[in-house]
Amino acid sequence: MIRTVSLALACCVAACAPAVKHDPRLSSAPLAERLAAADANTGAAIFSRCAACHTVTQGAGDRGGPALYGVVGRPIGRGSDRFNYTAALEAVGGVWTFERLDAWLTDPRHFAPGTNMMFAGLPDGMDRADVIRFLNENGSNLPLPTPSPNSRPAR
Ligand code: HEC
Repeated sequence: MIRTVSLALACCVAACAPAVKHDPRLSSAPLAERLAAADANTGAAIFSRCAACHTVTQGAGDRGGPALYGVVGRPIGRGSDRFNYTAALEAVGGVWTFERLDAWLTDPRHFAPGTNMMFAGLPDGMDRADVIRFLNENGSNLPLPTPSPNSRPAR
């Protein structure tokens, strides 16, 4: 335990990644539940891990990855006009729903085998929910799914 804590501290100092403590029961809750509990400001901090490759503000351009302003609800692998998407991502079809973003951010290479998004994924379900809420608040503003009253984690 002590070793885990000091390891986490060392990683934090090294990578300067935000260390957010989430309730582990919430981290594995259904997506609607997680999104309802998510916080866009925490998502903004988590987005610092994406910002080397992505912009998210209106009018900002592509980097190593496509511009993400308004990405929720946008066609998958086609939304940023000038970006050269892989055939793998283009072939997925449909639009970025909350669910599909959650799956993509869990494991990009599993979601679209052959993608060149060199990012391992966010294993914590609340990290994903926070960052998806942040993305939604930057140009999409789609209504969040309603959590089912039966799916609440036991308290
Ligand atoms: C090392 C660079 C890199 C990092 C870090 C990265 N991405 Fe990406 N991202 C890419 C690339 C490249 C693509 C295009 C992939 C393709 O065409 O297969 C992409 C595609 C995407 C897409 C699809 C956009 C569309 O128009 O269809 C989303 C959403 C996305 N990234 C979100 C994120 C989020 C959120 C993070 C951080 C948690 C992140 N990415 C981290 C490089 C990166």
